[in-house]
Amino acid sequence: MSSSDPAPRGSHAIPLLKLVNVWKRFGDGPSQVTAVANVDLQIEPGEFITLIGPSGCGKSTLFNMIGGLLPADANGSIVMNGVPQQDGELLGKVSFMPQRDLLFPWRNVVDNAILALEIEGVPKKEAREKALGMLPDFGLSGFEKHYPHQLSGGMRQRVALMRTFLFERDLILLDEPFGALDALTRAMMQRWLLDIWQRYKRTVLFITHDLDEAIFLGDKVLVMSARPGTIKCQETIELPRPREASVVTSQAFIAVKRRLLDAVEEESMKTFAAAEPPR
Ligand SMILES: Nc1ncnc2c1ncn2[C@@H]1O[C@H](COP(=O)(O)OP(=O)(O)O)[C@@H](O)[C@H]1O
Ligand SMILES: [Mg+2]
Repeated sequence: MSSSDPAPRGSHAIPLLKLVNVWKRFGDGPSQVTAVANVDLQIEPGEFITLIGPSGCGKSTLFNMIGGLLPADANGSIVMNGVPQQDGELLGKVSFMPQRDLLFPWRNVVDNAILALEIEGVPKKEAREKALGMLPDFGLSGFEKHYPHQLSGGMRQRVALMRTFLFERDLILLDEPFGALDALTRAMMQRWLLDIWQRYKRTVLFITHDLDEAIFLGDKVLVMSARPGTIKCQETIELPRPREASVVTSQAFIAVKRRLLDAVEEESMKTFAAAEPPR
Protein backbone atom coordinates (compact mmCIF):
# COMPACT_ATOMS: atom_id res chain seq x y z
CA MET A 1 0.00 0.00 0.00
CA SER A 2 1.45 3.36 -0.97
CA SER A 3 1.54 6.11 1.62
CA SER A 4 -0.99 8.12 -0.38
CA ASP A 5 -3.72 5.49 -0.02
CA PRO A 6 -6.35 6.39 2.57
CA ALA A 7 -6.23 4.17 5.64
CA PRO A 8 -9.32 1.99 5.95
CA ARG A 9 -11.10 2.18 9.31
CA GLY A 10 -9.35 0.05 11.90
CA SER A 11 -6.18 -0.12 9.82
CA HIS A 12 -3.01 0.91 11.55
CA ALA A 13 -1.42 2.18 8.34
CA ILE A 14 -1.98 5.88 9.04
CA PRO A 15 -2.80 7.06 12.55
CA LEU A 16 -5.88 9.24 12.82
CA LEU A 17 -3.91 11.68 14.92
CA LYS A 18 -0.24 12.00 15.65
CA LEU A 19 1.40 14.59 17.89
CA VAL A 20 5.16 15.01 17.78
CA ASN A 21 6.98 17.21 20.27
CA VAL A 22 3.99 19.48 20.97
CA TRP A 23 4.56 22.38 23.38
CA LYS A 24 2.53 25.26 24.74
CA ARG A 25 3.94 28.15 26.70
CA PHE A 26 1.82 31.03 28.01
CA GLY A 27 3.29 34.51 28.46
CA ASP A 28 6.87 35.74 28.20
CA GLY A 29 9.90 36.28 30.38
CA PRO A 30 10.08 35.23 34.02
CA SER A 31 6.31 34.86 34.32
CA GLN A 32 6.13 32.42 31.41
CA VAL A 33 4.19 29.24 32.15
CA THR A 34 4.98 26.06 30.25
CA ALA A 35 1.65 24.25 30.24
CA VAL A 36 2.47 21.43 27.83
CA ALA A 37 5.94 20.08 27.04
CA ASN A 38 7.18 17.62 24.48
CA VAL A 39 3.97 15.67 24.03
CA ASP A 40 4.11 12.74 21.62
CA LEU A 41 1.02 10.67 21.11
CA GLN A 42 -0.69 8.62 18.46
CA ILE A 43 -4.31 7.60 18.07
CA GLU A 44 -5.50 4.90 15.68
CA PRO A 45 -8.96 4.98 14.07
CA GLY A 46 -11.63 3.56 16.36
CA GLU A 47 -9.55 3.69 19.55
CA PHE A 48 -10.76 4.93 22.93
CA ILE A 49 -7.80 6.65 24.53
CA THR A 50 -7.95 8.04 28.05
CA LEU A 51 -5.61 10.74 29.30
CA ILE A 52 -5.14 11.08 33.03
CA GLY A 53 -3.18 13.69 34.93
CA PRO A 54 -3.37 15.91 38.00
CA SER A 55 -5.37 19.11 37.93
CA GLY A 56 -3.50 21.97 36.22
CA CYS A 57 -1.07 19.70 34.36
CA GLY A 58 -2.09 20.92 30.90
CA LYS A 59 -4.78 18.44 29.83
CA SER A 60 -7.30 21.05 28.67
CA THR A 61 -4.53 23.05 27.01
CA LEU A 62 -3.54 19.96 25.05
CA PHE A 63 -7.17 19.42 24.04
CA ASN A 64 -7.55 23.03 22.98
CA MET A 65 -4.57 22.60 20.67
CA ILE A 66 -5.90 19.35 19.18
CA GLY A 67 -9.32 20.96 18.74
CA GLY A 68 -7.76 23.92 16.93
CA LEU A 69 -8.89 26.46 19.54
CA LEU A 70 -5.34 27.31 20.57
CA PRO A 71 -2.21 27.37 18.41
CA ALA A 72 0.59 25.06 19.51
CA ASP A 73 4.12 26.47 19.84
CA ALA A 74 6.00 26.38 16.58
CA ASN A 75 8.45 23.54 17.29
CA GLY A 76 6.19 20.49 17.15
CA SER A 77 3.67 19.03 14.76
CA ILE A 78 0.08 17.84 14.83
CA VAL A 79 -0.69 15.44 11.99
CA MET A 80 -4.21 14.33 11.17
CA ASN A 81 -4.74 11.41 8.76
CA GLY A 82 -1.17 11.86 7.61
CA VAL A 83 -1.55 15.59 6.90
CA PRO A 84 0.38 18.11 9.04
CA GLN A 85 -1.99 20.76 10.42
CA GLN A 86 -1.11 24.44 10.48
CA ASP A 87 -2.52 26.97 12.97
CA GLY A 88 -6.29 27.21 12.70
CA GLU A 89 -6.65 24.27 10.31
CA LEU A 90 -7.86 21.88 12.99
CA LEU A 91 -10.86 23.98 13.93
CA GLY A 92 -13.99 22.15 12.82
CA LYS A 93 -12.12 18.91 12.02
CA VAL A 94 -12.51 17.51 15.52
CA SER A 95 -15.65 17.19 17.63
CA PHE A 96 -14.96 18.76 20.97
CA MET A 97 -16.78 18.73 24.30
CA PRO A 98 -15.26 21.33 26.61
CA GLN A 99 -14.86 20.82 30.35
CA ARG A 100 -18.02 22.80 31.11
CA ASP A 101 -21.14 21.59 29.35
CA LEU A 102 -21.99 25.05 27.97
CA LEU A 103 -25.66 24.42 27.33
CA PHE A 104 -27.57 27.59 26.58
CA PRO A 105 -30.29 28.04 29.22
CA TRP A 106 -32.67 29.60 26.69
CA ARG A 107 -32.44 26.71 24.23
CA ASN A 108 -34.30 23.43 24.69
CA VAL A 109 -32.63 20.00 24.50
CA VAL A 110 -32.91 19.62 20.73
CA ASP A 111 -31.82 23.16 19.96
CA ASN A 112 -28.84 22.83 22.29
CA ALA A 113 -27.89 19.56 20.62
CA ILE A 114 -27.94 20.98 17.09
CA LEU A 115 -25.81 24.03 17.88
CA ALA A 116 -22.65 22.85 16.13
CA LEU A 117 -24.64 21.73 13.07
CA GLU A 118 -26.37 25.11 12.89
CA ILE A 119 -23.04 26.92 13.01
CA GLU A 120 -21.90 24.66 10.19
CA GLY A 121 -24.87 25.79 8.11
CA VAL A 122 -27.07 22.67 8.25
CA PRO A 123 -30.73 23.78 7.88
CA LYS A 124 -32.46 23.84 11.26
CA LYS A 125 -35.23 21.43 10.22
CA GLU A 126 -32.76 18.85 8.97
CA ALA A 127 -30.58 19.23 12.06
CA ARG A 128 -33.58 18.88 14.38
CA GLU A 129 -34.72 15.71 12.62
CA LYS A 130 -31.28 14.20 13.03
CA ALA A 131 -31.23 15.12 16.71
CA LEU A 132 -34.71 13.74 17.33
CA GLY A 133 -33.59 10.41 15.88
CA MET A 134 -30.71 10.26 18.35
CA LEU A 135 -32.71 11.08 21.49
CA PRO A 136 -33.42 7.44 22.46
CA ASP A 137 -29.74 6.46 22.26
CA PHE A 138 -28.91 9.34 24.55
CA GLY A 139 -31.63 8.52 27.07
CA LEU A 140 -33.50 11.73 26.32
CA SER A 141 -36.71 10.51 24.69
CA GLY A 142 -39.59 12.78 25.64
CA PHE A 143 -37.25 15.52 26.86
CA GLU A 144 -36.73 17.27 23.53
CA LYS A 145 -38.64 20.38 24.62
CA HIS A 146 -37.11 20.57 28.09
CA TYR A 147 -34.70 23.33 29.06
CA PRO A 148 -31.35 22.70 30.79
CA HIS A 149 -32.65 23.80 34.24
CA GLN A 150 -35.31 21.07 34.01
CA LEU A 151 -32.72 18.30 33.58
CA SER A 152 -30.55 16.31 35.98
CA GLY A 153 -26.76 16.68 35.82
CA GLY A 154 -26.44 13.35 33.99
CA MET A 155 -29.03 14.39 31.42
CA ARG A 156 -27.32 17.72 30.79
CA GLN A 157 -24.08 15.86 30.14
CA ARG A 158 -25.90 13.57 27.71
CA VAL A 159 -27.25 16.59 25.81
CA ALA A 160 -23.71 17.97 25.58
CA LEU A 161 -22.47 14.54 24.45
CA MET A 162 -25.25 14.31 21.89
CA ARG A 163 -24.17 17.66 20.49
CA THR A 164 -20.62 16.32 20.23
CA PHE A 165 -21.73 13.10 18.49
CA LEU A 166 -24.12 14.94 16.14
CA PHE A 167 -21.18 16.94 14.85
CA GLU A 168 -19.82 14.00 12.90
CA ARG A 169 -16.08 14.06 12.95
CA ASP A 170 -13.59 11.20 13.04
CA LEU A 171 -12.18 12.26 16.38
CA ILE A 172 -14.14 13.17 19.52
CA LEU A 173 -12.43 15.00 22.38
CA LEU A 174 -14.13 14.78 25.77
CA ASP A 175 -12.71 16.92 28.57
CA GLU A 176 -13.67 15.46 31.98
CA PRO A 177 -17.29 15.03 30.89
CA PHE A 178 -18.33 13.23 34.07
CA GLY A 179 -16.17 15.16 36.54
CA ALA A 180 -19.08 16.93 38.21
CA LEU A 181 -21.40 13.91 38.52
CA ASP A 182 -22.03 11.86 41.65
CA ALA A 183 -20.37 8.44 41.73
CA LEU A 184 -23.44 6.37 40.83
CA THR A 185 -24.49 8.57 37.92
CA ARG A 186 -20.91 8.64 36.77
CA ALA A 187 -20.61 4.84 36.71
CA MET A 188 -23.85 4.60 34.77
CA MET A 189 -22.71 7.25 32.29
CA GLN A 190 -19.39 5.44 31.75
CA ARG A 191 -21.12 2.21 30.76
CA TRP A 192 -23.55 4.10 28.58
CA LEU A 193 -20.72 5.99 26.84
CA LEU A 194 -18.92 2.75 25.98
CA ASP A 195 -22.13 1.43 24.49
CA ILE A 196 -22.62 4.60 22.40
CA TRP A 197 -18.97 4.55 21.31
CA GLN A 198 -19.28 0.98 20.08
CA ARG A 199 -22.54 1.71 18.32
CA TYR A 200 -21.36 4.90 16.59
CA LYS A 201 -17.82 3.61 15.92
CA ARG A 202 -15.95 6.82 16.66
CA THR A 203 -12.47 7.53 17.91
CA VAL A 204 -12.40 9.10 21.37
CA LEU A 205 -9.79 10.94 23.38
CA PHE A 206 -11.14 11.27 26.92
CA ILE A 207 -9.64 13.38 29.71
CA THR A 208 -10.11 12.42 33.34
CA HIS A 209 -8.40 12.75 36.70
CA ASP A 210 -9.93 9.46 37.89
CA LEU A 211 -7.78 6.37 37.44
CA ASP A 212 -10.64 3.84 37.65
CA GLU A 213 -12.49 5.77 34.97
CA ALA A 214 -9.40 5.91 32.76
CA ILE A 215 -8.87 2.13 32.97
CA PHE A 216 -12.53 1.17 32.71
CA LEU A 217 -13.06 3.17 29.52
CA GLY A 218 -9.75 3.03 27.70
CA ASP A 219 -8.04 0.85 25.14
CA LYS A 220 -4.98 2.72 26.27
CA VAL A 221 -4.33 4.98 29.27
CA LEU A 222 -1.86 7.84 28.89
CA VAL A 223 -0.52 9.30 32.12
CA MET A 224 0.39 12.97 32.02
CA SER A 225 3.00 14.40 34.37
CA ALA A 226 2.51 17.40 36.66
CA ARG A 227 3.00 20.70 34.84
CA PRO A 228 4.66 21.10 32.44
CA GLY A 229 2.46 18.29 31.19
CA THR A 230 4.12 15.61 29.16
CA ILE A 231 3.21 11.96 28.57
CA LYS A 232 4.92 10.16 31.44
CA CYS A 233 3.90 6.61 30.60
CA GLN A 234 1.15 4.61 28.97
CA GLU A 235 -0.52 1.30 29.45
CA THR A 236 -2.57 -0.79 27.02
CA ILE A 237 -5.75 -2.08 28.65
CA GLU A 238 -6.45 -5.63 27.59
CA LEU A 239 -9.77 -6.00 29.44
CA PRO A 240 -12.36 -7.60 27.16
CA ARG A 241 -15.26 -5.60 25.77
CA PRO A 242 -18.10 -5.07 26.34
CA ARG A 243 -16.97 -4.16 29.86
CA GLU A 244 -19.28 -4.94 32.73
CA ALA A 245 -19.38 -2.87 35.91
CA SER A 246 -17.87 -5.82 37.81
CA VAL A 247 -14.66 -5.71 35.75
CA VAL A 248 -13.28 -3.16 38.24
CA THR A 249 -12.97 -5.94 40.82
CA SER A 250 -11.20 -8.37 38.47
CA GLN A 251 -7.59 -9.43 38.94
CA ALA A 252 -6.65 -7.98 35.57
CA PHE A 253 -8.12 -4.57 36.43
CA ILE A 254 -6.41 -4.46 39.80
CA ALA A 255 -3.08 -5.49 38.30
CA VAL A 256 -3.13 -2.69 35.75
CA LYS A 257 -4.35 -0.21 38.34
CA ARG A 258 -1.45 -1.14 40.59
CA ARG A 259 0.99 -0.50 37.74
CA LEU A 260 -0.49 2.92 36.99
CA LEU A 261 -1.21 4.07 40.53
CA ASP A 262 2.40 4.89 41.44
CA ALA A 263 2.84 7.03 38.33
CA VAL A 264 -0.41 8.91 38.90
CA GLU A 265 0.21 9.39 42.63
CA GLU A 266 3.73 10.64 42.06
CA GLU A 267 2.46 13.36 39.71
CA SER A 268 -0.38 14.32 42.03
CA MET A 269 2.08 14.73 44.89
CA LYS A 270 4.26 16.99 42.75
CA THR A 271 1.25 19.17 41.98
CA PHE A 272 0.34 19.23 45.66
CA ALA A 273 3.88 20.17 46.74
CA ALA A 274 4.09 22.90 44.08
CA ALA A 275 0.89 24.43 45.46
CA GLU A 276 2.32 24.76 49.03
CA PRO A 277 3.10 28.36 49.96
CA PRO A 278 6.84 29.18 50.13
CA ARG A 279 8.34 29.07 53.63
N1 LIG B 1 -4.91 31.02 28.46
C1 LIG B 1 -4.02 30.81 29.43
N2 LIG B 1 -3.14 31.76 29.80
C2 LIG B 1 -2.22 31.52 30.76
N3 LIG B 1 -2.09 30.36 31.42
C3 LIG B 1 -2.95 29.37 31.10
C4 LIG B 1 -3.96 29.53 30.09
N4 LIG B 1 -4.65 28.38 29.99
C5 LIG B 1 -4.10 27.52 30.88
N5 LIG B 1 -3.08 28.12 31.55
C6 LIG B 1 -2.24 27.49 32.57
O1 LIG B 1 -1.74 26.29 32.04
C7 LIG B 1 -1.71 25.28 33.03
C8 LIG B 1 -2.50 24.06 32.56
O2 LIG B 1 -3.89 24.36 32.56
P1 LIG B 1 -4.99 23.34 32.03
O3 LIG B 1 -4.60 22.89 30.69
O4 LIG B 1 -6.32 23.98 32.18
O5 LIG B 1 -4.83 22.13 33.07
P2 LIG B 1 -5.76 20.86 33.34
O6 LIG B 1 -6.82 20.82 32.30
O7 LIG B 1 -4.83 19.69 33.30
O8 LIG B 1 -6.33 21.04 34.72
C9 LIG B 1 -2.26 25.91 34.30
O9 LIG B 1 -1.15 26.32 35.07
C10 LIG B 1 -3.04 27.09 33.80
O10 LIG B 1 -3.07 28.12 34.75
MG1 LIG C 1 -8.86 20.85 32.45
